[in-house]
Amino acid sequence: MSKNNPSLLLKNGRLIDAGQNLDGKFDIFIVDGKVNEVATGLDVVADQVIDLGGLWVLPGAIDLHVHLREPGYEYKETILSGAQAAVAGGFTSIACMANTNPVNDNAAVTRFILEQARTAPAKVLPIAAISQGMQGEALVEMGDLVEAGAVAFSDDGKTVPNSKLLRHALEYASLFKKPLLCHCQDNALFADGVIHEGVISASHGLAGIPSLAEEIDIARTIMLAEYLRVPVHICHLSSRGGVELVRAAKARGVRVTAEATPHHLFLDERAVADLEYREPLDETAKPSMLCYNTNTKMSPPLRSAEDVAALRQALSEGLIDVIATDHAPHEATEKAVEYDLAPFGVVGLETALALALRLVEEGDLTPLQMVARMSLRPAAILGLNSCGSLAPDMAADLMIVDPEREWVVDPQKFHSKARNTPFAGWRLKGRVVKTFVDGRVVFSI
Ligand code: DOR
Ligand code: ZN
Ligand code: ZN
Repeated sequence: MSKNNPSLLLKNGRLIDAGQNLDGKFDIFIVDGKVNEVATGLDVVADQVIDLGGLWVLPGAIDLHVHLREPGYEYKETILSGAQAAVAGGFTSIACMANTNPVNDNAAVTRFILEQARTAPAKVLPIAAISQGMQGEALVEMGDLVEAGAVAFSDDGKTVPNSKLLRHALEYASLFKKPLLCHCQDNALFADGVIHEGVISASHGLAGIPSLAEEIDIARTIMLAEYLRVPVHICHLSSRGGVELVRAAKARGVRVTAEATPHHLFLDERAVADLEYREPLDETAKPSMLCYNTNTKMSPPLRSAEDVAALRQALSEGLIDVIATDHAPHEATEKAVEYDLAPFGVVGLETALALALRLVEEGDLTPLQMVARMSLRPAAILGLNSCGSLAPDMAADLMIVDPEREWVVDPQKFHSKARNTPFAGWRLKGRVVKTFVDGRVVFSI
């Protein structure tokens, strides 16, 4: 065995791998950065042996929706800091959106991202824009971008309002066998809204974003994909109506896939007006201490409790294929402004796994379903064939999880440069203790 790539035996872990439909006590033998063998009571000679004593072994999570802010907004996040946050959260591959500056709409930017990612601890997969400059007018050179390494196309942050352009994007993306990831919103209905149009927008005087803004655009996107008989992926479903559109489309045989974020699965519109202070409010608390928490502002917005229930149900049924974070880092000072003025977006890479484990605890997902939503399905949607499962010959991209370990979300301890989480102060259970990429330790606590 070469010293650079020592072989490794992980013993006595609970392997949970949807790709092999395995959930049980297995040993994993890793050679040359790949899984060599998976069996009970493996009797092999390895350079290194780690006894996991019952800790969980999961394929590395794959996030098909993150925003790293490089190039252009390195003060919010860099490819390196984003990748460090990823591996701390158990993500071994992250696909990064194109809304950088310059926009990732040409091969030079894609190559730059891949170059910066060479020394990053996670695998960073560039998503190219759909339209030049994300202006919604002219298609990018998809062939060039695929050749440079783009894994998908998205104008995320914006919709593609021109249906003819969206049609051509769907046609070309399907020719190149790359997914089109659609941020669905009707711009006129979205207007200058900042939170969900509902009881809180009405009672608190904040401009609302109706669920209809999402639903109309999901309907249009699905209709185009159905007409063209091509696949399409819907980003961050947030509404019950959106879920029903995806349900009906899947039933008709449309090749539509969808994701939901942890924040839309755990929080509703009421979180917007929540106190920033999590401690029980004492009688001396003054109204002046009350404020909106701008770390609940994202697009699409947190919706009603009914919508959250519909998303959970859809995730459980597999109608929602994937949990994706929409990790959207912003600097503290940018969020420390009036609610109207704060930028949309919250971070998610370092809290997603523990929140997904809470879905398991609450009975929405089995452990195997959780792994399917976080590893197997995202790999399939992105067309990655060497990760997403720990079957023999796959990359040894994996996380070791202590399912019993409790921790409190402290944004100051994030590896991300950003702190804008709505989950600050939450007590979560389940922690990543080690992450491996290609058989090498990239994170350890
Ligand atoms: O909340 C969001 N933040 N939604 C988006 O669509 C874009 C993202 C960002 O880039 O900050
Ligand atoms: Zn989006
Ligand atoms: Zn996004």
